[in-house]
Amino acid sequence: RGVVVAIDGPSGSGKSTIGRHLAATRGLAYLDTGAMYRAATWWCREEGVDLDDEDAVRRAVAVMPLEMRTDPAQARVVVGDADVTDAIRTTQITTIVSKVATNLGVRAWMRVRQRSEIADALRVEGSFEGRGIVAEGRDITTVVAPDADVRILLLAREDARLARRAREVHGSDDDDAIAATRDQVLRRDADDSTVSTFTVAADGVVTVDTSDLDLQQAIAAVEQVVAE
Ligand code: CDP
Repeated sequence: RGVVVAIDGPSGSGKSTIGRHLAATRGLAYLDTGAMYRAATWWCREEGVDLDDEDAVRRAVAVMPLEMRTDPAQARVVVGDADVTDAIRTTQITTIVSKVATNLGVRAWMRVRQRSEIADALRVEGSFEGRGIVAEGRDITTVVAPDADVRILLLAREDARLARRAREVHGSDDDDAIAATRDQVLRRDADDSTVSTFTVAADGVVTVDTSDLDLQQAIAAVEQVVAE
């Protein structure tokens, strides 16, 4: 029977890179749930929905034609006819995504969609022949898949997370780049933590601190938890 690996963590903890790598090496599906919230945010803007109108946001997201392609070698996010994989990574979206993600109606819809992606990856006749999935986000170990076979919380010190994000977004971790990243990382974590707990491990969740690990070491640490 297939395996479900749930990984949570704050921005810059390395969960996307590590999660995708783990899925690829084990032949599992890969679900980036943050990308789903980003796609919902993209869709609301596209539809001209006022993000302060909670009910309008909930209704818009409920009819969003979202398709998550979960092959880790070519993970794509498609909304209707539009491949939004790159468009959802812009600063514009990053700055406002928490507004959509803290909408409880949106979260309820996401929970259903995410559980169905997990169920799909466990179906023997599905594309992953029932091998399973790595699902990654902020509330996978606690809310979406608390019964996952492996549950990991990736943590890293603030300075390490800021430096990583600055390098990703600005190609540098000098003071200006770090300053430009603060809102996107710290303010967003603070907003997100009003609806999800991802800074303290829940019962049965294994914590991996990646602050002083490079990518290879972080991957090895996570692989070891999965192998146990
Ligand atoms: O990669 P990073 O951690 O910066 O963000 P992300 O994983 O792309 O997630 C984007 C946003 O989606 C987060 O800031 C949260 O607002 C939201 N999110 C969530 O609420 N619950 C999840 N399980 C995953 C993401």
